[in-house]
Order: sequence, then structure tokens, then C-alpha cells
Amino acid sequence: MKFKFQTPKYFQKFEPPSMIPPIKIYWKKSKDYFIWDEKNKKYIDFTSTIFVTNIGHSNKKFKKKIINVLNSSLSHSYVYYNKYRQEYISKLIKFVNRKKLDKCFFASAGTEATEVALKLMRLNGLKKSRFKKGIICLKGNWHGRTMGAQQMSDSKEQSQWITTKDKDIYHLDFPYPWIDGFDKAGFFEKSLTKRFKKNYNFKKNISGIMIEAFQGWGSLFYPSKYIKSLVKFAKKNNILISIDEMQSGFSRTGKNFAFEHYNFTPDIVCCGKGMGSGMPLSGVVTSKKLINIPNANLQSTHSANPLACAAGTATIDEINRLKLTERSRKLGNVFSIYLKKIKKEHLNCVGYVTNKGLIGAIIFRNYNGVTAKNIASSVAMKCLKKGLLVVATNRDSIKLGPPLIISKKDLIKSMKILNTCIEEFLSENSKKH
Ligand SMILES: Cc1ncc(COP(=O)(O)O)c(C=O)c1O
Repeated sequence: MKFKFQTPKYFQKFEPPSMIPPIKIYWKKSKDYFIWDEKNKKYIDFTSTIFVTNIGHSNKKFKKKIINVLNSSLSHSYVYYNKYRQEYISKLIKFVNRKKLDKCFFASAGTEATEVALKLMRLNGLKKSRFKKGIICLKGNWHGRTMGAQQMSDSKEQSQWITTKDKDIYHLDFPYPWIDGFDKAGFFEKSLTKRFKKNYNFKKNISGIMIEAFQGWGSLFYPSKYIKSLVKFAKKNNILISIDEMQSGFSRTGKNFAFEHYNFTPDIVCCGKGMGSGMPLSGVVTSKKLINIPNANLQSTHSANPLACAAGTATIDEINRLKLTERSRKLGNVFSIYLKKIKKEHLNCVGYVTNKGLIGAIIFRNYNGVTAKNIASSVAMKCLKKGLLVVATNRDSIKLGPPLIISKKDLIKSMKILNTCIEEFLSENSKKH
């Protein structure tokens, strides 16, 4: 029987509203950094699905590795040892390349990885004292949808279903670039003073800090002084630091991991998305000292399954073979030039542009009665019509993150399309007035 492509209505009949994509496009196939829809229209993918396909869509060597597992006589082994897991664990530790980060644990979804980090920070705190259980997070950061991860994420709307809130999770102000003094020394300390009572005993009560490597929706990185203060504070008070590298890991920012930009080594690194290049693979990388605790009880049915581990191995092999960390850094410089150009030419509607390596964002500002959020959606739709898929965040921003194998020529072409779409938006909306 001939396969028939169904409309969004069909999907909505069987699936919840959360599965409606922000841009209604049917992916028929994807290869390298291109996508084709059901009518065979070709798009440049500036989303990497959602920062997953760093090594490119349908990567040949990746597929070969997965097919080898499928053709072998091993499809699953629960926690029993298997050769694909054997191959991956040491490769991942080597890729992270920090002496103190010598152990890893795998799950399937990103939210499970951040849950594990929360559990480890707390269990290690509780080992010291029954009071050392507080977790500090940042407003606006996001870590997933399960109970703990959702509470570490700062979203009242998304956590309405959690009726008994964890009283020991606290949120501090994020150093947004539009806040006065965001990049000055003292911002972090001030945010502590604002959130906690005078003489609060951090050493006694706080076990961990969870940060997103950059705030997702706007690709907003921390000023170096902010992280310096945070690290100093954590050290002084015996507090662990977890970093959520879901979007930023595996070469996306021009480093293997984004924490390298901040010149510190976290205690726990949470990984997912680009870790498995499309196979469900997530995990944490941490130290013996923190993870070798009897009551951690971490394992899950699909932890370290052969397919996921093979995907992880093939991802690192391709990153190394194609020198994708270096490529992301170099192309990131070109990306940055075009982002700055867009800002300079459209100061009236573009508030901020940000990037490190091949992750970036354009944050709009209200223009002529149109909200920044509507400008972002309108520009994203215009891009789609011209064959460029960007991440529509449903906020004031458009996020940009092509597979790291994109050619310089098509990177520039895409940035020109984006610029044209903003120009079109402006000309349509200035005519009205
Ligand atoms: C920063 C960050 N943390 C955690 C998650 C959760 O990952 P998953 O959707 O795989 O559970 C995401 C997913 O978008 C993310 O961007």
C-alpha cells in the first residue's frame, strides 16, 4: 500500500497538543544539514532538530555503527555488561577530559540526567548533614519536565501540576544583559542577598547549584565574573556545581563542553541531545567520590543499552574525525559577524544577538505596535517560506543552531535569508503607519 502523508489534523486526533510542532512542517527526510518535506521542498536546517544532530542528519558512519548493532545478536542487555557499553564509557570520559570527571552513568532523556544530578547533589549533601539539602538554581533556566527537573526550572506555569513543592529548591536572578551591572563583580552575591535571609548558613543548608550552560531561549551566556563568583562561593561553602550541557555539549559552542569557556570544572555534567545524535541517550559525567554511594540507586531499564552506547561512540568518533569542535569555533566567528550585522542594520527591532560557536539567538524588541514575540514568529515563518528552518521559541527570540558540518557558504546564505526576512517584516510593518 502506498504511504500517505497525513495533515497536522491527523496527528492532533491521536496525540496531545504538546506534540504540535511550533512550525508545522512534515519531515520526509533529512541529510547532512538539509531537510525535505512531504512535497520534496528542501530546507536548510538551522535547528539540528533541537541541537541533536551536531554531526549532521543521517550521518553515514553513525548509521553504519547502528546497523552493525542491529545486525549483531545483541539488542538489549539491561545492566549486564555488553561490548558497546565497554567501548563507550572510556571514550566519553576521554572526551570530557577532566581528571576529576572520571565516571559516567547513562539514561535516555535529558530530564533524567538533570534528575540524577539533583539526586547526587542532595545525597552527597545529606551524607554531611541532614540539613545540607538545598539546591540553588537560576530564574529562567530550564532543566526538563519530570518532577525534580521541572522544579529546578523556573516556570510557574509548567509546575502547576506539582502540588507539594520542594521547599529546598531556590532560584536566584539570572544575569540578563539588560540588567544594570549584570557583568560587574558582585551581581551573584547581590542575588544571594536578595533571595536569602541575612546570615543564612549556606555551608550548613545548601548541597548543590544547578546551572544551565547558557540560558536556552536566548542563548544567553554568563559573564565570566558571575561564574567566578559562583565557583568561589561553592568552594567556600562546600557546595557541588552541576552544569546542564544538554544543548551546549558535544562541540556545539566551539568547545567539547561549554564549561570550558568559563574556566572551571563542574562536579556533575548533565548531557543529552547531541550526545546520541538522534538515539535516546543522556547521562551524567561526574566523579567516583560523588557517584559511588550505596543509596544512589540510579540504574534504569535502558541505561547503557547497546544501541544508545553505539550511537554515543559514533558521535564522538565523528566529532573527532571531522574536527567538529574546531569547526564550530571557526564557523562561530563567521556566524557572529553576520549576527552583529543583523543587529546593526535593524536596531529598531533587534535588541540583542548572541552566539558562541554554532549556537546563537536573535532577541527582538517591540516594533511599531508588534510585540517582540510576534516579530520572532513572523520572521521564523518567513524564513521557512524561503527554505530555512529556525527554532521558533514562542518567546521574543529566534534560536539558531545548524549541524556543525554546515558549509561556510550555506551558513552565510542562511544568515542572508534571515536578514532579508527581517527587512521584509520591517517594510510590511512600517507601511501600516
Ligand atoms: C537545557 C535543557 N535541559 C534539559 C532538557 C530536557 O531534555 P529532554 O527533553 O531530553 O528530557 C532540555 C530539553 O530541551 C534542555 O534544553
